[in-house]
Amino acid sequence: KRPAGAPDPALARPVTKVGIVGAGLMASQLALLFARRLDVPVVLTDLDRERLDRGVGAAHAEVGGLLGKGRVSPDKAARLRSLITGSLTKDAFADADLVIEAVFEEMAVKRAVFAEVEEHVTAECVLATNTSSLSVGEMAAGLRHPERLVGLHFFNPVAVLPLLEVVRGARTGDAALATAFATGKALRKSCVLVEDAPAFVVNRVLVRLLAEIVQAVDEGTPIEVAERAAAPLGLPMPPFMLMGLVGPAIALHVNETLHAAFPGRFPLSGNLAKLVAAGKPGVYRPDLTLDPEVVDLFAGG
Ligand code: 3HC
Repeated sequence: KRPAGAPDPALARPVTKVGIVGAGLMASQLALLFARRLDVPVVLTDLDRERLDRGVGAAHAEVGGLLGKGRVSPDKAARLRSLITGSLTKDAFADADLVIEAVFEEMAVKRAVFAEVEEHVTAECVLATNTSSLSVGEMAAGLRHPERLVGLHFFNPVAVLPLLEVVRGARTGDAALATAFATGKALRKSCVLVEDAPAFVVNRVLVRLLAEIVQAVDEGTPIEVAERAAAPLGLPMPPFMLMGLVGPAIALHVNETLHAAFPGRFPLSGNLAKLVAAGKPGVYRPDLTLDPEVVDLFAGG
């Protein structure tokens, strides 16, 4: 059944090679998902060799994890490793049919990325952004072909979470949209069409919920009490643990975007900003105990 609002699937373009801009946490997860489900070459790009190698290495390591669990055969693992490669230049996108960016969440950075990508890709290549909250329409504004940009908003962990928000920007064309849905289906995601509103749908709800809990902590509730009190909400993991999974910098960015759009509904969190300024990956240490430095930080220490 065609998802609500999706255009005619016949308009979808075949995807035989995927380009990914960025080689961070989301990008390496996306690389593995595309290679595994589409069985096509996936090339990651980043600004320097170290980041690129780390991103490709993370995807290859994840292939090792799948092999270890018996989820893929040794042949398939070798194939996946050969499909996922890195390049320091975007020439590698010349024969890509789909290029998705997962770079720093800043409009100017993303627009510069797409302007550069457009210099290298064919006229038919579909462009996608994995932005959490920025406007897809605004991002497309400087493009020669704004109709080819669509939002593909994945959730972390990408391999596990089934939902994919397909975002229609003001000028997104039907071919890009149909390609997004066909790709989402091939990736075995459950696709929903969402409009280009601030933070789309999922993050509107999730960030509101997290913001309220963070505010309770800002007001003096201890973190562990807030974590336990949230249990009846049925989240798959406690709120501050989820924030660590998403990454405090991204959580803060979505919080700020929503605060700018709806100031009364999304208060800014002082503690979230402090966490990011301190460069902490979250409130938990790797052994899943609370980081005492963060507890102090939150208590105003
Ligand atoms: N990467 C890949 N696979 C992972 C993973 C990761 N980071 N974390 C867990 N998994 C896999 C495990 O390997 C396991 O797979 P298996 O069945 O093949 O062994 C499976 O997921 C289940 O993992 P576990 O049994 O270890 O643990 P749980 O059952 O507790 O599930 C979880 C872990 C899937 C992370 C679950 O806790 C969860 O869904 N948490 C909430 C995640 C969430 O809400 N994410 C959305 C964040 S918002 C976002 O991303 C949008 C952005 O714009 C901000």
